[in-house]
Amino acid sequence: MELVDIGHKIHDEQRQGEAFGAILASHPNSKKFYIESYGCAMNFSDSEVVAAILNAEGFGATTQFEEADLILVNTCSIREKAEQTIRKRLTEFRKAKRNKPGMLIGVLGCMAERLKSNLLEEEKLVDLVIGPDAYRALPDLIKEAEGGQKGVNVMLSRDETYGDISPVRLNTNGITAFVSITRGCNNMCSFCVVPFTRGRERSRDSLSIIAEVQALVNEGYKEVTLLGQNVDSYYWVDEHTGATTTFARLLEQVALVSPDLWVRFSTSHPKDITDEVLYTMARHDNICKCIHLPVQSGNSRVLQLMNRTYTREWYMAKVDRIRTLLPGCSITSDVISGFCTETEEDHRDTLSIMEYSNYDMSYMYFYSERPGTLAARRYQDDIPLEVKKRRLQEIVDMQGVLSRKSNLNDIGKTFQVLIESSSRKSDADWQGRTSQNKITVFPKTDADLKPGSYVWVKINDCTRATLLGNIVDAPQH
Ligand code: SAM
Ligand code: SF4
Ligand code: F3S
Repeated sequence: MELVDIGHKIHDEQRQGEAFGAILASHPNSKKFYIESYGCAMNFSDSEVVAAILNAEGFGATTQFEEADLILVNTCSIREKAEQTIRKRLTEFRKAKRNKPGMLIGVLGCMAERLKSNLLEEEKLVDLVIGPDAYRALPDLIKEAEGGQKGVNVMLSRDETYGDISPVRLNTNGITAFVSITRGCNNMCSFCVVPFTRGRERSRDSLSIIAEVQALVNEGYKEVTLLGQNVDSYYWVDEHTGATTTFARLLEQVALVSPDLWVRFSTSHPKDITDEVLYTMARHDNICKCIHLPVQSGNSRVLQLMNRTYTREWYMAKVDRIRTLLPGCSITSDVISGFCTETEEDHRDTLSIMEYSNYDMSYMYFYSERPGTLAARRYQDDIPLEVKKRRLQEIVDMQGVLSRKSNLNDIGKTFQVLIESSSRKSDADWQGRTSQNKITVFPKTDADLKPGSYVWVKINDCTRATLLGNIVDAPQH
């Protein structure tokens, strides 16, 4: 079968950007779909499952939504702004539908789950509304919609993991891939809509995870990121043997698939990352030394209102533990400004915990009330928007100082780098990432190297977000 490019746009509020992917083309006369994803990596990973389901139904793919028979938008509800962006985009798709009778528009993902059939009322030209656990129903719903009926399936499941579906890689550079290991979330952070849009947490069969990782290695992939809202609570019980697999054990099994494969994971809830996980990371060079450990707030009272189940002191002790067991490991975070009742003093606690934790990078947001969440029901969204924004700016400025400090600290050191592509700015340079997940740019001096090669780079300079250096020989241990 032939490989063609399809336009698959990722509008990730965290990983801003677009991606183009390869997908199996079907018969030239077959129907075509176009898919666009918003939100987190989990959504992007789900779009790869959807692409596999559509491929099996004989759908080909297109980069041009105007020529598609089926436009799918995989949506995000995490903040109000995310939903606004998607609504705007839907109006563009509606125009395309007017020019192409018979075209279907489907809304997938978290916004579909949150708004359910109301979405059909609000967005008159939407034909399909499908929640994150209902993608197997897509072919039937498409048939119904082709017959003129609106198709809705927003049933959440307690056991759907799509573990048996081989995702069709959409934004593939052939080097890095996502592998989903859990779905849903049981945590009930009071600000968060995810438990409502993605349902109860469930873990995917560890054997199917290892098989997917092995297949990626066989295809030449060099890095996998294990995905879940809370990967550390991964827990699988084999129904035949009764053997249990914790996240630490799974991480080890994945690391052992190939020493030539870098392994990342995201996200860790601070309450669940265990010493066992940290020791496993220390034991395996190919488990990347980078932990995303969202703090959300640095004030214990606010953390309690957020239902994060840890205090400021407990979080700081966790950071200390990581620094002790994994020297040189980067720590990144998510931070929210202006949560309900947050005072200036509480906000200063957030700035000071950032400083204490020395985050290498953070994703930063102002609080956006989401209908139906615990916070929306219990607390007043009482911090004025301009105050939320001013505090957010102070958080962004603090992170700017910390990121610069972290990068300056790397000057003179040597890191292994996985080459991903030519540098965006110059074809004469390579771009890759260190184990700590820092983007690194260096001149192409060796003709044998290519994307997917590992090299050692000595850092001699940096910008705000990038390390700069030169290729050197591997250090002698
Ligand atoms: N499960 C992960 C965790 O617990 O860290 C990530 C959850 S969410 C997809 C990513 C980030 O969005 C959260 O860590 C939080 O900082 C932010 N977020 C979630 N709900 C929000 C809200 N209502 N307003 C602003 N930011 C929010
Ligand atoms: Fe949302 Fe909290 Fe679950 Fe993360 S852990 S997805 S912030 S409820
Ligand atoms: Fe958004 Fe849903 Fe992810 S709300 S951040 S797409 S889990």
